[in-house]
Amino acid sequence: MSDKISFYEMAKSRRSVRTFDGKGLEQSVLDNLHEYAKTIENPFSIPVEFLFLNAKEHKLSSPVIVGEEYYISAKVKMQENAEAAYGYSFENLLMKAHEMGLGTVWIGGTMPREKFENASNLQDGEVMPCVSPIGVTASKMGVKEVLMRKGVKADTRLDFEKLFFDGSFDKPLNKQSAMERGLVNSLEAVRIAPSAVNKQPWRVVIKGNTAHFYEKKDKGFDAGDYDLQKIDVGIALYNFEQQMLCEGRKPVFEQKDPGISHAQDIEYIASYRW
Ligand SMILES: Cc1cc2nc3c(=O)[nH]c(=O)nc-3n(C[C@H](O)[C@H](O)[C@H](O)COP(=O)(O)O)c2cc1C
Repeated sequence: MSDKISFYEMAKSRRSVRTFDGKGLEQSVLDNLHEYAKTIENPFSIPVEFLFLNAKEHKLSSPVIVGEEYYISAKVKMQENAEAAYGYSFENLLMKAHEMGLGTVWIGGTMPREKFENASNLQDGEVMPCVSPIGVTASKMGVKEVLMRKGVKADTRLDFEKLFFDGSFDKPLNKQSAMERGLVNSLEAVRIAPSAVNKQPWRVVIKGNTAHFYEKKDKGFDAGDYDLQKIDVGIALYNFEQQMLCEGRKPVFEQKDPGISHAQDIEYIASYRW
């Protein structure tokens, strides 16, 4: 047995960080992360561009963040699957930052959007749905951060049986059955993932040797130009795949709607077969 920490354990030890130590980061740390960012790909083959922005230089701040010196912003050309690709790629980068011991938080709403878009030199046809501050986590959470976490019940997640299904949406998958199929940690890595307003819009139907990922839509997340909850599903896809790889499985990405009947507010996104 390797003593390498599994992806799931690493993901479990992450939380959103909104209070930083105010000391910034060594340039070499930022450079390392930036170099890593340039290598990131996603199974949709849609490029996501990351920018590392000095907060002071660009006059950037967020009402929920304290003590940050840098932000990472990410842009993508709007097209089919852009949001899921974006979620997958940005989650890769933020998990790398977490592995390096750094704090981050997805910010898709609580920011002066125009300022961030200008600093990111957003072009026609591109969107910049989210940014994240990057830095060293402060030793104590700020009051605002504690309140914010309470507001979205950030320390809780929906039950396994509410998110995962066995063959069809009318048959919840229980943990025991997931365990017997060797899927429990890959699905847990999805369950504990971050999502906008902690809505956890991912739903997964396991059918044979395939996990089909769906988005369960809530009102107010799709402003017309992009759908924030599809980003959440991209995050879920990344976490599922990484834990599978960690366990020596060989997940193969595919987009082929299996035709499983579902409610109107549910949309098929993609699948992993193994
Ligand atoms: C796509 C996306 C957008 C988010 N937007 C914001 C935001 O605008 N402001 C904020 O404070 N947190 C934001 N979050 C963070 C979530 O509130 C957080 O992930 C969730 O409450 C779970 O908490 P945890 O990350 O500590 O586990 C966002 C998360 C995601 C995935």
